[in-house]
Amino acid sequence: MAEVSLSGISKSFGNDVALDDVTMTIPDGSFVVLLGPTGAGKTTTLRMVSGLDLPDAGQISIGGRDMTGLTPTQRDVAMVFQQYSLYPHLSVRQNLEFPLKSPVLQTPADEINRKVGEVAEILQISHKLDNKATALSGGEMQRVSIGRALVRDPSVYLMDEPLSSLDAKLRSDLRIELKNIQANSGATLLYVTHDQIEAMTMATHVGVLDHGKLVQFGTPREIYENPVSVYAASRLGQPRINVLPADLFAGAPSNAATIGLRPEHIVQGDGADSLVQRVEHLGDQTRLHLVFKDHDLITVTDAHTDLKGGDIVKIRPQNPYYFDAAGARVS
Ligand SMILES: Nc1ncnc2c1ncn2[C@@H]1O[C@H](COP(=O)(O)OP(=O)(O)OP(=O)(O)O)[C@@H](O)[C@H]1O
Ligand SMILES: [Mg+2]
Repeated sequence: MAEVSLSGISKSFGNDVALDDVTMTIPDGSFVVLLGPTGAGKTTTLRMVSGLDLPDAGQISIGGRDMTGLTPTQRDVAMVFQQYSLYPHLSVRQNLEFPLKSPVLQTPADEINRKVGEVAEILQISHKLDNKATALSGGEMQRVSIGRALVRDPSVYLMDEPLSSLDAKLRSDLRIELKNIQANSGATLLYVTHDQIEAMTMATHVGVLDHGKLVQFGTPREIYENPVSVYAASRLGQPRINVLPADLFAGAPSNAATIGLRPEHIVQGDGADSLVQRVEHLGDQTRLHLVFKDHDLITVTDAHTDLKGGDIVKIRPQNPYYFDAAGARVS
């Protein structure tokens, strides 16, 4: 497997700047998750690494080798696309075999069978191997397209929201399987998701993209606990970080415009009065929706709380983040 390095990558489509001078090193054997809202440049980044699209400026190297001018096949990457693309006239088995049957690889037949069987089992799709690719549910098609990447043993896996159309149970099963595959094989993965839990649990590193710029790169914990901006802080955490005017609570630095409070950074029981609007029991978590000086806040509380709508609860911030008017972190 291999380290992937992007150096000064820019890409525009007409007047749309999709990537703006992105420099990032994806360490060998790491699981890097790209985060950012729609249009941030996540898919474009994967396409640049794969060689499906070429950057306007910058270099990409894989395993220390400059990839400029090399085709996707020569780059030895396996990509799972955001929109799954199967060969509709082929069966599931034939779709899974396809990457191994390339003349370049020359994989022996029993090895192909073993690999296809193993991957089908991991993806819980063994019972559909003889179905036509079109005779599948959306989630099954998505698993077959993941399978087509997993049967191979590429330098780098590129995956664009591969679990997005699966139900919660399958999603959490496959999250664990993908993480295991990566951990056991030492594969390098560049992975796009909007799912908080996927990002927090699978990533060794997270890259935060904002309008084509890489604004922060670090471990999920670093991004969560030490975000460089209100934008980066808002990418991780469920419920989301609360962002309020800084002067709502005492103690803000003079250059702070807003205070960022993660739900767990709101202490209940002392401080100033707030109104309980709603209590949400989610099973593993109980969320408290509060109104504080005309601002909505979300925090978490004890699962056995007897608080209810209309109650008054005292709150105070603990370990808040402060941000300036432009959204940058201030200390
Ligand atoms: N082939 C293309 N032609 C024109 N514009 C494009 C093309 N591909 C991407 N863009 C533009 O580049 C920007 C980044 O797009 P990209 O697909 O990388 O976003 P994304 O982060 O993957 O978003 P999403 O979460 O919606 O998939 C967007 O403004 C998009 O409209
Ligand atoms: Mg995309």
